[in-house]
Amino acid sequence: MLIHSASQLLTLAGGPQRGAALGALNIIEDGALLINGEKIIAIGTSAELRAAYPNEPALDAGGCVVMPGFVDPHTHAIWAGDRAAEFEMRLQGKSYLEIMAAGGGILSTVRATRTSSLEKLITQTRPRLQAMFACGTTTAEVKTGYGLRMATELRMLQALLALNAEGPLELAFTFLGAHAIPPEYNDNPDEYTDLLCETMLPTLKEWWPSQAPDLPLPFVDVFCETGAFTLQQSRKILEKARALGFPLKIHADEFDNLGGASLAAELGAHSADHLVATSPQDIAALAASDTVAVALPCTPFGLAETHYTPARQILDAGGLLAIATDLNPGTAWCENMQFAIALACRYMKLTPAQAIAAATINSAAAVGRAAQVGSLEVGKQADVLILSVSDYRHLGYRFGGNLVRTVIKKGRPYPV
Ligand code: NIG
Ligand code: FE
Repeated sequence: MLIHSASQLLTLAGGPQRGAALGALNIIEDGALLINGEKIIAIGTSAELRAAYPNEPALDAGGCVVMPGFVDPHTHAIWAGDRAAEFEMRLQGKSYLEIMAAGGGILSTVRATRTSSLEKLITQTRPRLQAMFACGTTTAEVKTGYGLRMATELRMLQALLALNAEGPLELAFTFLGAHAIPPEYNDNPDEYTDLLCETMLPTLKEWWPSQAPDLPLPFVDVFCETGAFTLQQSRKILEKARALGFPLKIHADEFDNLGGASLAAELGAHSADHLVATSPQDIAALAASDTVAVALPCTPFGLAETHYTPARQILDAGGLLAIATDLNPGTAWCENMQFAIALACRYMKLTPAQAIAAATINSAAAVGRAAQVGSLEVGKQADVLILSVSDYRHLGYRFGGNLVRTVIKKGRPYPV
């Protein structure tokens, strides 16, 4: 299939973009690309490719932007129930951490998720994945973390494996057993940390290849935060996970600066995420590493807070910056990467080009898939968006809607 007549073909070619290099869209005007099966096999101008491949079935992009599908590298898309009542409580003055300390927050979603069957988890999650896909996300990371006990955590992974097999949205998997201290361990959080290290992670290591023999091991993530896991506990869990061969992620500095970002850099984590209360030393440590800084602008927006990830400082230091939705029932029920881009432009002062690179090639790096997705290059997966606009800057400029007209996943078009 030949896609031609793109006003701007945003290739994002050349790999992840660090520091001042962020925002190189590598645009081909009046661009075209040729897809064979699931892969891109040629890229060029419409004139070149139409002359070279006159007999290919054609898809006319009609003078619109063509770009890689979004990669959303941080979501909690699987859960049961909702937290509309807590949203109202926050508007009346209670803080997120206060609600969490009183047994609400993450723990209220844990109660709903623990009592949900596999079937129910799948049917509640599917529409969210469909909404993500319709908004142009072609690959998404999804975390567990609303079980906090092995049976429920594995049921969440089983549901995610089933949804991934269904497609078309392709998933990257993360085990977040360390999302909160479960109520049974309230008085002894270190005991839960030991359970994670001695039992849960080794169990996962055995279980995964029996359920997903063709997929790489999931990421292991920790919520390093006041009221969740201390820096010391986070280190213990992540070091154990690394020793077992799991790739790593961390939630760091969402509210308080505990040093989680430097820990991520030290341990060679794929990403450190949130990074709102991050210190200059942590930023320097991240920038000197290959750990991707994942900003989640929907979260401060969802909490009506005024502090966002200091993206300019991260870029000035030479860091790798990505953005994600953080889709979750507590702080950010948002399936749309285009909205995350709009917020990143306004509150993190990114240009549309920088935000687009942060939402494609750099977010692919945050989930370890930059060699497969995140840019339009020969040999890569044909995950392509056709927008309804002719100038890419409308991403960021416009918000609250959906500028995606067609999503192509692994070479197959899905009209929106
Ligand atoms: O990334 N911070 C921890 N986890 C989520 C919130 C999860 C929830 O409130 O249910 C986040 O913001
Ligand atoms: Fe999160």
